[in-house]
Amino acid sequence: MDTRINADFPSRWFDLERLVDETFCRSIEFRREIGSTNDLAMSDDRSGNELPLLVVADDQTSGRGRGSNQWWSREGALTFSLKLMPQEHDIKREQWPLISLTTAISVADTLSEFASDAVIGLKWPNDVHLSGRKVAGILVEVPPGRDDLVIIGVGINVLNSLNSAPEAIRSIAHSLVDETRFEHSPCDVLVRFLRNFDQNQTLLAGGKLNLRKRWASQCVLTGRSISLQSGDHEVSGRCLGIDDEGAVRIESDGEIRSWYGGVVRIQE
Ligand code: BTN
Repeated sequence: MDTRINADFPSRWFDLERLVDETFCRSIEFRREIGSTNDLAMSDDRSGNELPLLVVADDQTSGRGRGSNQWWSREGALTFSLKLMPQEHDIKREQWPLISLTTAISVADTLSEFASDAVIGLKWPNDVHLSGRKVAGILVEVPPGRDDLVIIGVGINVLNSLNSAPEAIRSIAHSLVDETRFEHSPCDVLVRFLRNFDQNQTLLAGGKLNLRKRWASQCVLTGRSISLQSGDHEVSGRCLGIDDEGAVRIESDGEIRSWYGGVVRIQE
C-alpha cells in the first residue's frame, strides 16, 4: 500500500491512488464508514500524513452541518474533508473568511462540468444549489488551539437519489443523479473538485479570484427579500449580493449593511 494512503478497507467508489496522483492532495485517510470526515480531520495527528490531507469515506453516518445542524447523507453521497495550511498556499490570514466561499465556487464549477444544462446557484455563505434545490453544503472549521490549519468539509449529493426521501426533503434538496439521470462516479467528481479548488485557491492567493463578480453570476439571493439571523439579531431586507470581503449586503430601512455571518432565509 502506498505510504501516502491509509485505508481501513478497499473503497467501493474511490481510486485512492488516482486521488493522490492527479490532485494536490499529499495524503489520504480513507474509511469504509465514518461518523464525520471533519471530526477525523480535526483529530488526525499522524505524523506520516503530509498536508494537504484528504479524508474521505464511502459512507458517512453522522455528518455535521453548520451550527447544530446535521448533514444527512446516504451511501453514494460524496463526503470528504480537506485539511490544509492556508499559508502553504499563500493564503493570508485575512483571506481565511473567503475560503468557504471559494470552496462553494469550486463546487459550482465542478457541478457545471457534470450537469451542463442545469442552473447552478450559490446561496451565501456555503450552500450550492442545483435547479433551485440544495445539492451541496460546506463546513469550514479550525481545530481548537491552531491558527495555521483549516478543515474544509464538503458534502455533495452525487449518487444518493432523493427520490424515496420524504417530500419535505425532496422539495429542498437535490442530487446529481436525480438531475442528470446519469450515474457519475463520485471519484471523478472529487478529482474535478480538487483540481478546480486548487485553481481557485491560487487565484484567491494572488488576489485574482474576483470573488464578488464571480459570486454575482450565480447568487440565488441577490434582489430577493431575505432575513438573516446572526446570534440574537435578526435583520430583514433586500439582498444586494456580497462584497469583496465575502460579507452579504442587505438593504434594510434605506440603510445598507454588510453581514459577515449568519443563517439566511429567503422570504418570498
Ligand atoms: C451545511 O450545509 O450546513 C454544511 C454541511 C457540511 C457537510 C460535510 S460532509 C463532509 C464533512 N464532514 C462533516 O461532518 N460535515 C462536512
